Amino acid sequence: MKIGVLKETRTAERRVAATPETVKKFIGLGFEVAVEAGAGAACNISDAAYAAAGATVADKAAVLAGVGIVLKIQGPDADALAGFPRGAVLAASLNPYQNRELMQAYAEAGLTAMAMEFMPRITRAQSMDILSSQSNLAGYKAVLDACEHYGRALPMMMTAAGTIPAAKVFVMGVGVAGLQAIATAKRLGAIVSATDVRLATKEQVESLGGKFIFVDDEEARQAETAGGYAKEMSDAYKVKQAALIAETIKKQDIVITTALIPGRPAPRLVSAEMVESMAPGAVIVDLAAEQGGNCELTRAGEVVTTDNGVTIVGHRNVPSRLASDASALFARNLFNFLSAFHDKEARSIAWDWDDEILKAVVVTRDGAVVHPALQG
Ligand code: NAI
Repeated sequence: MKIGVLKETRTAERRVAATPETVKKFIGLGFEVAVEAGAGAACNISDAAYAAAGATVADKAAVLAGVGIVLKIQGPDADALAGFPRGAVLAASLNPYQNRELMQAYAEAGLTAMAMEFMPRITRAQSMDILSSQSNLAGYKAVLDACEHYGRALPMMMTAAGTIPAAKVFVMGVGVAGLQAIATAKRLGAIVSATDVRLATKEQVESLGGKFIFVDDEEARQAETAGGYAKEMSDAYKVKQAALIAETIKKQDIVITTALIPGRPAPRLVSAEMVESMAPGAVIVDLAAEQGGNCELTRAGEVVTTDNGVTIVGHRNVPSRLASDASALFARNLFNFLSAFHDKEARSIAWDWDDEILKAVVVTRDGAVVHPALQG
């Protein structure tokens, strides 16, 4: 079976869905691999490196000819589907909730589209989880992005010229990205506090040396879904949470927001009024910028400075800002996923459509959008 790796086409997407390491492993399992010329250029992987790993390097049409599985970071746009053979599998990050028409286009093109961000959070699928691998890097990079715009140092420094105080960093949303942001800010010497609606995160924050800030009520004790994600909270909870955040935020130098709810716009946690209460020079990095932003004043894809001197960083696609590591991990996630369905005897893929992993990730199949979360 042939695996095709296409070059990413979206603006500012520097990652690639396979590396020479994973190409070699796929070939070892009996696959043929074709990589579109230039696919790895933006993250310093040359065509020659893919060729040395055993891939054929070709143009897009040749990569797609007779392909069984197409690997991408982001799903292709509807007008880029020409040349995809009907029946081909597409494995990528598809953002299905925000791209419902595109999912329909994949169905009409006869693709079996698999949304890697729908990977279930079960032990067996941990090594296939792109949200974890990419969010971890985003959490780290968010702290570095904050440092870039913060005109001071993070650690306390005692010098002959006097003492510099440690920066106060507040992390909102303690999932994978938030935990890495806490760890990174701690390593840089900041005084770190963090908040989440899931009580389970208290211990995690404290184990990293952070202070946990939390609205402790009955609703918060039920805020975690069986899948480990947060639920949308009630209006009453939001009022209590806003009061606590308002009190906390005005004392912070750096705020990193990472709060997300699957399938919903990002929760609005930082109001314009709260930003106004912060000191000039403070920095907010909003990792939820693309999902609508956790901060009211975030502008996706932009860095803005408010009238009172607070900088709000709303970069899109933060993992792509660390494209080499992000590609290496994404590519391994894809390899781990496909190899789980590899049939040794046939030296090819044998999909088990009843497997809970496939049930979770398959969005389109046999000409229709089949994922239960996308019906209606
Ligand atoms: P996410 O990216 O969906 O959300 C980020 C964080 O924002 C979450 O911690 C969430 O609780 C929080 N949040 C949502 N609404 C909020 C609000 N209104 N106020 C404050 N915080 C809010 O989460 P992520 O990073 O995907 O992790 C979710 C959970 O899944 C975590 O418990 C994580 O440890 C777990 N996980 C499990 C895996 C596995 O078992 N295979 C793999 C990766 C993560």
